[in-house]
Amino acid sequence: MTAPTSLAGMLTRLAGDAFAAEGLSAAFGQVTLSDRPDLAQFQCNGALAAAKQAKANPRAIAEKIAARLKADPLFAKVEIAGPGFSNLDVTDEALAAQMGAMAKDGRLGAPRTGEGKTLVIDFGGPNVAKPMHVGHLRSAIIGDSLQRLFRANGWNVVSDVHLGDWGLQMGQLISEIEIEGTAPVYFDMNYVGPYPDESPVTMDDLEVLYPRASAACKADPARLEAARRATVDLQAGRPGYRALWRHFVKVSETGLTREFGSLGVKFDLWNGESSVDALIPAMVEDLKTRGLAELSEGALVVPVAEPADKKEMPPLLLVKSEGGVLYGTTDLATIIERVKDQNPDLILYIVDQRQHMHFEQVFRAARKAGLNGKAALEHAGFGTMNGPDGKPFKTRAGGVMKLFDLIAMGTEVAQKRLSEQNLDADIDVAERAEIARKVGIATIKFADLSNHRATDYIFDLERFSRFEGKTGPYLQYAAVRIRSILRKAKSEQAGHTIMRSPEERAVILQLLALPEAMAAAEDKRAPNILCDYVFDLAQKFSRFYTQHHVLNESDPGLRAARLGLCGLTLSALVRMLDILGIEVPERM
Ligand code: ARG
Repeated sequence: MTAPTSLAGMLTRLAGDAFAAEGLSAAFGQVTLSDRPDLAQFQCNGALAAAKQAKANPRAIAEKIAARLKADPLFAKVEIAGPGFSNLDVTDEALAAQMGAMAKDGRLGAPRTGEGKTLVIDFGGPNVAKPMHVGHLRSAIIGDSLQRLFRANGWNVVSDVHLGDWGLQMGQLISEIEIEGTAPVYFDMNYVGPYPDESPVTMDDLEVLYPRASAACKADPARLEAARRATVDLQAGRPGYRALWRHFVKVSETGLTREFGSLGVKFDLWNGESSVDALIPAMVEDLKTRGLAELSEGALVVPVAEPADKKEMPPLLLVKSEGGVLYGTTDLATIIERVKDQNPDLILYIVDQRQHMHFEQVFRAARKAGLNGKAALEHAGFGTMNGPDGKPFKTRAGGVMKLFDLIAMGTEVAQKRLSEQNLDADIDVAERAEIARKVGIATIKFADLSNHRATDYIFDLERFSRFEGKTGPYLQYAAVRIRSILRKAKSEQAGHTIMRSPEERAVILQLLALPEAMAAAEDKRAPNILCDYVFDLAQKFSRFYTQHHVLNESDPGLRAARLGLCGLTLSALVRMLDILGIEVPERM
């Protein structure tokens, strides 16, 4: 539901009361911004649905609702159009009062959808030792935006990177190092410790070792078998392997924190698949005892198929025949841990769409066994970022794109654009580099977030980096421009009372729709709704600004009102961009 400060929310309540007074459901009173702004500010289509249900004439119902609404001084216009749409305008006084309230509210009227609720959000999900790929990048960008949005809407949010630190790649690395013979102490069965504090491998070493190990395992079944065995031994607790593995995790964590940090993405928890290792034996026992897990071809599985399934739903694999646990096992145990530690209302997984089946299996198993407490379990999947060839994005050399490379590319093109536009000519080198970094990151993030997360898109840096059109740099520039107006106005008093033109009202209505945009983006787990919102706002503001004087306006009251409009627009732009993980430079 919308927050008390939302104008559409207020109108919805009034219209709902009018329907109720006519003996109809208040739910018909939904009022939204008009999709024909040339005809009205707001619309209510409830009379049509109400008529259908009551088998009555929609226009007659609309007339009755209109008569009631007209009695309220909030409305400047109540009209019925077509078969029974209600077109509504509110008075300028009402708009001004709402704007004043919004300007005073530090949260800009953000909805309080999350009051008293806890979200655990699982995103990023890089794998130790394996390089991050664009899927992890998308997860980081979308997940970070969602964690910021849920926080802004009042949720208590706990984010977890959920490192992939327990799978076969660990065994592959261990056996590779064994063969290389560079760290024999970890393989010496007679050695009882302690193991060295210093890691025998660096991040750079891992980046070489992993591809080599993985290629060897592909080429040679014996190597794959050795890696499997090492994984099982690691999971079973062999001390030398655990010690070596701890080094891998530590070294990767340091590197990953830097990589995510450079993108402005932070996590509350750096847990991983391994974090729940100790919970697994009891969980497996419990599932067996309760008859929820059964043996199938030597492996222990949880059947999760349901009669209504249209597609085949394979069981969740818990324990392999040789004893190793799987991705689903750790995910299931992680639910137990999260319920114990956070008791969340919702656990949201921001992971590649192609893992949808996996999550469906895990969620069903969790619900069947009642492991999820009060938490709703939800996978918000995303599509791929593709190169110009329509295949998942790679570097020119054909390798996996690293986050640092991508940021460097974004920064480079931002630098080029900024000097093309001659925007930053009088700014010193250090600040210019900082601006380019912010613009580069905005280029990448906005391009990613402005598509619905489920769609695949083609990475086109030329287009994403333009200062015209629906891009991150355009929006940063829009905010910077307002900043500069306000700087010039110095400490002049801002007001909210006077408005004279459709362009001014259009900006105000868009500003007042911010709570709805935030609520809808949360509801759909869709940051692209905020991208649309913020782009509309910038465009409406630009239309206003090209047609009206602000600093040169001679009427002091009007100038104050327009400065007020500038100030609130800037706050909304900066706030929404912040939720998208985009910083606005002081100037550019
Ligand atoms: N590490 C996984 C991958 O690279 C993603 C982890 C997503 N989160 C989860 N709870 N399974 O595909």
